[in-house]
Amino acid sequence: MKDVSFVDRLFVGLAVASFVAAADKRPDCPKLCTCENRPWFSPSSAYMEAQTVDCNDLGLFHLPEKLPAGTQVLLLQTNNVAAIDRPLDYLANVTEIDLSQNNISSMTDVRLGILPQLLSLHMEENRIQELPDQSLVDVANLQELYLNHNLISSISQMAFQGLGKLLRLHLNSNKLTVIRREWFRPMPNLEILMIGENPVLSVHEMNFKPLGSLRSLVLTRMNLSQLPDNALAGLDSLESISFYDNTFPEVPHSALRNAKNLKFLDLNKNPIARIQRGDFADMLHLKELGINSMPELVSIDSFALNNLPELTKIEATNNPRLSYIHPNAFYKLPRLETLMLNGNALSALHRITVESLPNLREVSIMHSNPIRCDCVVRWMNMNKTNIRFMEPDSLYCVEPPEYEGQRVRQVHFREMMEICLPLISPESMPGHVKVRGGSSVSLHCRAFAEPEPEIYWITPSGDKVLPNTVSDKFSMHPEGTFDIYDVTEKEAGPYTCVAHNLVGADLKSVSVEVNGYFPQPANGSLVVKVKSVAANAVLIWWKASPGTLAPSIKWYALSDARHPAASFSTRVPSDVRTYNLTHLSPATRYVVCVDVRSIHYKRDTKCVNVTTKGLALAAEDAEKWDTALIASVGVLLAGISAGCLLIYASLRIRQLNGDLRKRHSKALLLPGEDGDGRPPFSTKLRFSGKVLPGGVEVKATVINVSDDAF
Ligand SMILES: *[C@@H]1O[C@H](CO)[C@@H](O)[C@H](O)[C@H]1NC(C)=O
Ligand SMILES: *[C@@H]1O[C@H](CO)[C@@H](O)[C@H](O)[C@H]1NC(C)=O
Ligand SMILES: *[C@@H]1O[C@H](CO)[C@@H](O)[C@H](O)[C@H]1NC(C)=O
Ligand SMILES: *[C@@H]1O[C@H](CO)[C@@H](O)[C@H](O)[C@H]1NC(C)=O
Ligand SMILES: *[C@@H]1O[C@H](CO)[C@@H](O)[C@H](O)[C@H]1NC(C)=O
Ligand SMILES: *[C@@H]1O[C@H](CO)[C@@H](O)[C@H](O)[C@H]1NC(C)=O
Ligand SMILES: *[C@@H]1O[C@H](CO)[C@@H](O)[C@H](O)[C@H]1NC(C)=O
Repeated sequence: MKDVSFVDRLFVGLAVASFVAAADKRPDCPKLCTCENRPWFSPSSAYMEAQTVDCNDLGLFHLPEKLPAGTQVLLLQTNNVAAIDRPLDYLANVTEIDLSQNNISSMTDVRLGILPQLLSLHMEENRIQELPDQSLVDVANLQELYLNHNLISSISQMAFQGLGKLLRLHLNSNKLTVIRREWFRPMPNLEILMIGENPVLSVHEMNFKPLGSLRSLVLTRMNLSQLPDNALAGLDSLESISFYDNTFPEVPHSALRNAKNLKFLDLNKNPIARIQRGDFADMLHLKELGINSMPELVSIDSFALNNLPELTKIEATNNPRLSYIHPNAFYKLPRLETLMLNGNALSALHRITVESLPNLREVSIMHSNPIRCDCVVRWMNMNKTNIRFMEPDSLYCVEPPEYEGQRVRQVHFREMMEICLPLISPESMPGHVKVRGGSSVSLHCRAFAEPEPEIYWITPSGDKVLPNTVSDKFSMHPEGTFDIYDVTEKEAGPYTCVAHNLVGADLKSVSVEVNGYFPQPANGSLVVKVKSVAANAVLIWWKASPGTLAPSIKWYALSDARHPAASFSTRVPSDVRTYNLTHLSPATRYVVCVDVRSIHYKRDTKCVNVTTKGLALAAEDAEKWDTALIASVGVLLAGISAGCLLIYASLRIRQLNGDLRKRHSKALLLPGEDGDGRPPFSTKLRFSGKVLPGGVEVKATVINVSDDAF
């Protein structure tokens, strides 16, 4: 007890003594300033106690008349100093001067004098407009120079002459329109260069060539949309580069090839639409990749990240349109430990995607992805993976409707189907794009499904374009991207993507407007005809003018008194011209309407009345009835092989057990096209008959995509 109080008193005594020492005004300390010893770290992070004169934020217009001769750190931040008239040579030991946030407009007004000990000079947030030749030749041992947030628009070739020891140069947030290689010649030891936020028009070949020691280069917010192949040549020590917030439409992969020792690559906030094969070729030392906050990023394609032996971390978060990661997107990444995927538009993640990463410790796909608790993510709940999901309890299902809002973990994998229909992510494709004539446009269509869907496109003229098709106007990439080159008004119109697998198909249209032009369908050009009539089926045919979006077909029985409001509808790709309405009642009068829309939500509807054939004929057809039903649960892709019949059979068994969920309700609705604010038609197929229990209502997922139609 006694000891403790002694220690206490000793401590208090020491504290008082040091307080007195600090507050004790040194005779040579300038008025209002504080002079004391403070900890100081050199640019190489060596610690020392430095005699510090703190005149920050005093509204000073001039430097104090006389500063203590032993001053090592001179702080003059946030004053109104416009000039240093009297050289500071007498401060022989000064190591740091901070003149940031003052009113300096010209380097020639700053006469520091010869200061051989000066290592660090802060002049950020002044109004300096130019750096003339030899601006800082008297401070030859300077290691850090901060000139960021000034108004520098011009730097003379020899401005940095004499600064051979400089390690760190901050020139960001100025008014530079060019970067000259000559500036860098006098500073071969520079390690860090920050030159972002300058309205530089372009970076040139060999622009940084003299900077063989540079380790970190920051080129943020420069409106850079491309880099010449040799822009980074000579940067043999470069470990880190930031392209944050530029306008690169794709990864500047050719230029990056010169940065062979790069470890950290920041591409955040660039309008890159796809990360694709070859984007990071030969970057054998890359450790961390940032592809966050990219407004246009839709997809990480196959082999996008391939053979990166040292990559340990991928951060791909907050990309509002990132809706697809190819199962083989990550390949030969033996060291990858962390995969951050939160805040994207991903509805799923393939098991292969993560299982191809032997060293993966954690996946943070967790929060803020619209997870579809369906077949593709089934593996997540199967306990067969060693992957740890960060924050697993914050991962919620958005689809299918019956699981909406539930935690993914709470949905038993047996409740998820093994196969499922493709759903084209609404975020992957806008509904409408405006293009300037002569430019190129890429339309991206991606869908998750099991089995993996195949994708094709339909042009406004109704041509079906298959993957790997290349012409001088179009190119369709196997991943689903459709490029149109050298666009003219002829190419304007609606383009429809169809993603299909054994289970079904989804489609989505995008209207391409060229120079404000979009083909308008002429009024009254829609023609609808009945091609053939059976007891349970009616084949209709129609013709619409070019430029219409995917039509919808709606039908209802006029005589059905029991269900007066029972109407059915479906949507079909815009290249389809015929549709077989099946499981109709015999001898019944139906109204069949075809509804087409154009881009500006103008619509055209034509209806026909048709009466199915009588019961005598219906009896003959009865045997065929089962097949028709089953086929309509699956999808009628022509040429389906015997193996697929098994799938149909399994779907059928689920139905018999009453287990078929209304899981695919959105499949047929084309988002963004229902401009009239009405709820879109709900598509109902009512199953009845011998085989299936009556009254199982399914929101259909089925599109009759028959090859005959093309
Ligand atoms: C500068 O530092 C040296 C070495 O620490 C010291 O001997 C000298 O007195 C200092 N000069 C002044 C003006 O304080
Ligand atoms: C900064 O200097 C300019 C002249 O270069 C002067 O007009 C202006 O008033 C000064 N600003 C302040 C806040 O002292
Ligand atoms: C960015 O660069 C493009 C050309 O690449 C140019 O049209 C645009 O005006 C620039 N924007 C700004 C803010 O400098
Ligand atoms: C997975 O494992 C956890 C505990 O290890 C267990 O609580 C859960 O029921 C398992 N899930 C399945 C689908 O087997
Ligand atoms: C088509 O009809 C609408 C009104 O129904 C009219 O506003 C529009 O101008 C017509 N378009 C053409 C090309 O005739
Ligand atoms: C179809 O029948 C309905 C009701 O009888 C009638 O109002 C409509 O005009 C008919 N439509 C055609 C195209 O014949
Ligand atoms: C329409 O479907 C019915 C019932 O499946 C079938 O019998 C008929 O042959 C089909 N018609 C055409 C033209 O495919």
